[in-house]
Formats: sequence, structure tokens, C-alpha cells
Amino acid sequence: MATVSKPPSNFSYLLLLLLLQFHLGKSQLQLNYYSSSCPKAEEIVSEQVKQLYNKHGNTAISWVRNLFHDCIVKSCDASLLLDTHGDIISEKTSGRSFGMRNFKYVNTIKAAVEQECPLTVSCADIVALSARDGIVMLGGPSIEMKTGRRDGRESYVAVLEENIPNHNDSMDLVLSRFESIGLDVEATVALLGAHSVGRVHCMNIVQRLYPSVDPTLDPKHAEYLKKRCPDPNPDPKAVQYSRNDLGTPMIIDNNYYKNILQHKGLLMVDEELATDPRTKPYVENLAADNDYFHQQFSRAILLLSENNPLTSDQGEIRKDCRFVNSI
Ligand code: HEM
Ligand SMILES: *[C@@H]1O[C@H](CO)[C@@H](O)[C@H](O)[C@H]1NC(C)=O
Repeated sequence: MATVSKPPSNFSYLLLLLLLQFHLGKSQLQLNYYSSSCPKAEEIVSEQVKQLYNKHGNTAISWVRNLFHDCIVKSCDASLLLDTHGDIISEKTSGRSFGMRNFKYVNTIKAAVEQECPLTVSCADIVALSARDGIVMLGGPSIEMKTGRRDGRESYVAVLEENIPNHNDSMDLVLSRFESIGLDVEATVALLGAHSVGRVHCMNIVQRLYPSVDPTLDPKHAEYLKKRCPDPNPDPKAVQYSRNDLGTPMIIDNNYYKNILQHKGLLMVDEELATDPRTKPYVENLAADNDYFHQQFSRAILLLSENNPLTSDQGEIRKDCRFVNSI
């Protein structure tokens, strides 16, 4: 009796196609994707990032945070860059985007690329490449980053807070959020090394200072932070902040890990990273060796930058990173 297996149903085919699509996205990214369509694309982005860094050093810091906020929410598809317009409510209006800056200079980079190759290079790739080049300007590692991402046509503001952890979330939540986009614990710990640069506004610090000082915070550092943030209820519009890393504030190095081991991390998640038994051993290893940090940071940035990209005929190449193309 021959057992002829039933041909798969249409539904199974559909499922297979969907799975393929999901896996293909990542594998369709390639090094130098624009080598024939816009050979100078990467050079132009690098040149712009360098020029902007020379005028406003903190632009480079913004490019690193942009990659995180764009990619961890569904896809690296430049949804972060959309302005509020028509049906779209900008992701930049979310509380989680508090303190993000320099968006106008993304337009400077995009304009330079558009001038050379109209409607060819995606905003999503500009987010990725500017982060890569910003990391170099900040003394971090050179990362071989693939391109070929396409731009989404929607904002994910409605699910943004479920996707981007808050400054005081538990390590359980932080690890599971990063795990869900393919980052193991070591990569997650390495990625948080981005907090080796930049600033934190008092709004995100005062819970650890008032009414009483968080006992996990180094007392001397707490005194310093109280001077930086004298008001227990800071005006969200006030430009009151502390730098993340007082030692090397503009360098992506492992000083972050040394600081958090001394309980001088600014955010609760920074402090938790140094004390949670799952993450602490990695923090110690990264604090001990800057080259090793750079290696792990590169690996983590690549994983983040390849989260679920739109490729081939999905999405579009936006003309202006702030708006979807009109149909
Ligand atoms: C658990 C995960 C994370 C949380 C809860 C978190 C939260 C925050 C908060 C609250 C700030 C300060 C905003 C302000 O007050 O101005 C900040 C700054 C920053 N974050 Fe994170 N972050 C996380 C992970 C990351 C990752 C993975 C990256 C990049 C790879 C990153 C890059 C940055 C940068 C560069 C800044 C400084 C921005 C500036 O000075 O303009 N963060 N983060
Ligand atoms: C975390 O901080 C926010 C303010 O930024 C506050 O509304 C929230 O209650 C805090 N959550 C926890 C768990 O403490």
C-alpha cells in the first residue's frame, strides 16, 4: 500500500513563504549594496557624518541612539524619522524618545546623498551607516555594516513603549526585549556600552536622588548628581543633565563598565547591569579589556542593525526621511 503524502495546502505554502520572507530579509542585506546603483553612497554619508561631527560633536552620539530606537521597534526601517503628518504620529513624540536630538542633520546627510543619486539610498540605510560612522568618530570600532534596507511607510508609536525599555525597567524585561531581536546576554551587555557617551537629563535621574538617595548609588557620585540636578521635579523642558561618563564623555570605550562597577551609572538599568548575576560577569570582562569590548560592541551593533529589515520590493526609498512618499 503506497502512502502518498498529501500535497501541502495553500495555507502551508503561505506559511512557508512568510517564513522565507522573514529569513530572506536579513540575508538580502549585503556589503556595499549600492556599489553599482550609487557607488559613492557610503563615502558621502561618511563625509557628511565627519563634517557634522566637526561642527557639532554630539551629532555622532545621536546617530548611535537613533539606530537603537529605530531597529528595536519592529524593524530597521527608519520609522523613527517620520514626522507627524496625515495618519502618522511621529515616534519622536513618544516619552521614550525624550532627549533625542539632531534629527534635522539627518536631512543634511540625506540631501547630500539625494543630490548624487536621487531616490536610491534608503533612510533606513542612512540610519545604519551614520551610526557606523558616528561610532568611528567617537573612537569606537570600525564595523563592516551591510546595506540594502528599505524604508517603512508607517510609524510604530503605538507599540514603541512595549519595545523600548524604560530607564527603570527590570533586567528581566531588558534581557527579554533584546533576546526577542536576537541578542544574547553578552551582546546586550556590550550594546549598553553606548552609554559611555552622551547625557542623561535630570528627569531620568531624580528618582534616584529624591526624596532620599538610592542606596545602590555611590554616595560621592550622588552628591555630584544632586549638584547637577538640584530640583526634585525638573521642568521637562529644562536643559539640565549629567554626562554619562565624566572620564571620557565623547569616547565609546569600556569606561562605562568601570563606572557602573563603581555604582556610578546614571540610570537604574545601568546599575542593574553591574549587579544582576546574569550580566555582572560580562560587565567585569568588558571592563577589563577595551579591545574585547570593541569586538563585542561591533557584534552587538550588527545584530541590532539587521533586525527584520524590509528588502527587495517591500517598503520604499523615501525621498525625504520625514515623510512617506505620496502615491
Ligand atoms: C535598556 C536599554 C536602554 C535604556 C532603558 C536606555 C535609556 C536611555 C535614557 C533614559 C537616556 C537619556 C535620555 C535623556 O535623558 O536625554 C539614554 C541616552 C542614550 N542612549 Fe540609551 N538606553 C538603553 C539602551 C541603549 C542602547 C542599546 C543604545 C545604543 C546602542 C543607547 C544609546 C544611547 C545614547 C547614545 C544616549 C545619549 C544620547 C544623547 O546624549 O543625545 N541606549 N538612554
Ligand atoms: C519609572 O519611571 C517613570 C518615570 O520616568 C515612572 O512613571 C514609573 O512609575 C517608574 N517605574 C517604576 C517601576 O518605578
